Amino acid sequence: MSRAIAVFASGTGSNLQAIIDAIEGGRLGARIAVVVSDVPHAPALARAARHGIPAMVIAPERGETREAYAARTVSALKVYPIDLICLAGFMRVLGRPLLEAFPRRIINIHPALLPAYPGLRAIERAFADGLKETGCTIHYVDDGIDTGPIIAQARVPIHADDTIETLTARVHAAEYALYPQTIQNLLNPAGAS
Ligand code: GRF
Repeated sequence: MSRAIAVFASGTGSNLQAIIDAIEGGRLGARIAVVVSDVPHAPALARAARHGIPAMVIAPERGETREAYAARTVSALKVYPIDLICLAGFMRVLGRPLLEAFPRRIINIHPALLPAYPGLRAIERAFADGLKETGCTIHYVDDGIDTGPIIAQARVPIHADDTIETLTARVHAAEYALYPQTIQNLLNPAGAS
């Protein structure tokens, strides 16, 4: 039976799109049970709708704690069979109820070679530091910011004539290859029946 994932996205959803494309292209043996966003009009939701994928908005309520938000999310997910939660530009730190409900079953993609450049504007900071390379990382999620155990990384060269735009495009291209491939490796390891 095909494995089911949930994708959490707050914004553009181009990594969600890469996952959808990999599934539709037969490169990823999984189905997206649901897309979750904390942002009501996130473009990621429109991508889900275009592909007939169930989606739900779980917007934080005024004064709601991280733990309460996470508990509400766990309840909302109960109706879906979920093998793996994939964060794809989800801009919230996950609370304990989610981490406990899905132990070692939540992963994230980050546009840098962690542990370098955790947090926001990672591509910009690597570029500003004049590095020769950066990359992207898939890691298990814990209660820190981009701190969980690393699963996979792809290196991306920084060329002398790069601009932040050309570098950003190259890092994103690496993400779009690495994320579906890593999900495939986790859900359907080679050699497993
Ligand atoms: C990606 O660069 C991802 O690494 C980071 O947020 C960005 C999300 O972009 N966590 P998108 O919404 O998938 O287009």
